[in-house]
Amino acid sequence: MRKKLTAKFKELFGSAEGTKLYFSPGRVNLIGEHTDYNGGHVFPCALTLGTYALARKREDRLMHFYSMNLDNFGIVEASVDDLANKAEYGWANYPLGIVWAFAQRGIRLKSGFDMVIWGNIPNGSGLSSSASLEVLTGLILTDLFGIDTLSMTDLALIGQYSENHFNGCNCGIMDQFTVAMGKKGHAIFLDTSNLSFQYAPVELEDAKIIITNSKVKHSLVDSKYNERRQECADALAALQEELDIHSLGDLDMDIFNKFKEAIHDPVQVQRARHAVSENQRTIEAVRALKDGDISSFGKLMNQSHISLRDDYEVSCPEVDTLVELAWAIPGVIGSRITGGGFGGCSVSIVKNDAIDTFIDTVGKAYKEKVGHEADFYTVEIGDGAHKL
Ligand code: GLA
Repeated sequence: MRKKLTAKFKELFGSAEGTKLYFSPGRVNLIGEHTDYNGGHVFPCALTLGTYALARKREDRLMHFYSMNLDNFGIVEASVDDLANKAEYGWANYPLGIVWAFAQRGIRLKSGFDMVIWGNIPNGSGLSSSASLEVLTGLILTDLFGIDTLSMTDLALIGQYSENHFNGCNCGIMDQFTVAMGKKGHAIFLDTSNLSFQYAPVELEDAKIIITNSKVKHSLVDSKYNERRQECADALAALQEELDIHSLGDLDMDIFNKFKEAIHDPVQVQRARHAVSENQRTIEAVRALKDGDISSFGKLMNQSHISLRDDYEVSCPEVDTLVELAWAIPGVIGSRITGGGFGGCSVSIVKNDAIDTFIDTVGKAYKEKVGHEADFYTVEIGDGAHKL
């Protein structure tokens, strides 16, 4: 990786002397979907797939961003004195947003920098290529400019802040937190109401995590996402008329069922039911995993999918197809849509001796039904963002 990025850096900027290399992962969420902005729990892990960057400080006020995945974009140039989101910057609005978010915190860069990236997170797949890039940029800035006042959690929060206020997606904290705090072989059991967390070893012994990319991304993803957030906020406000709670994550199913009539809109009841049931499933799933009960963990993943499909309505026919095909294969312990939804990927836990059949059967049937191929990734759980 260093070689490839160094060669490009030299070609673009004359020399690669004094450059430093960084890595930031993508993430997959095992269970706990659309709970992170409802004060609930999530259970994601960082991947060994991710984004690499070679970077170096400059003497002047300019910043140069170059992506080896988007060569035709060329070098994007911006100034540390003009931190505005511009359509022509394209992907570079993500790293630029981090420079902006640092400035919002009172941390102004003394000079510009050059940054060349290359990544292997499939684009638009819902595996958090943008959060990966955000945390990567945060890490680069702290290292290049000797900023020692920010923790990795701060870098996650800065990434989320920038995505919310610079890039216009009202996402929760899960993605950036996972990318910043990931740990090899472990998933993160994160309570999004207070950011307390535990690392849980993911020991699947005779099984692996397989991500299947539907390679569809339906339009209006961000606006639908924001709409779900609003529906949950409205449901919460209705419940707060009767209950002293801070978030939907404060409820269990019994209390929810007792008080749900306080919510008058039936769609909001569905959305809130998902937020509450998914949080409870996540807590249960982590308990099952700790007990070594992978089979219960898988069943909870399946229930999560059904709830996301029926109550939360963030799945789509293509990902439903992937998941239903997976469920029918012996040796599949669990399978569900993962990430924000409306396309993207499914995550499945598959026994080692069923992996070939899984890829073959799901792959063929998906192509026949949907008309294009799905991509399969047998993934490893890796560390959070770090310098190499
Ligand atoms: C996207 C958001 C996350 C989270 C998931 C759904 O990935 O960025 O904050 O809300 O969707 O669980």
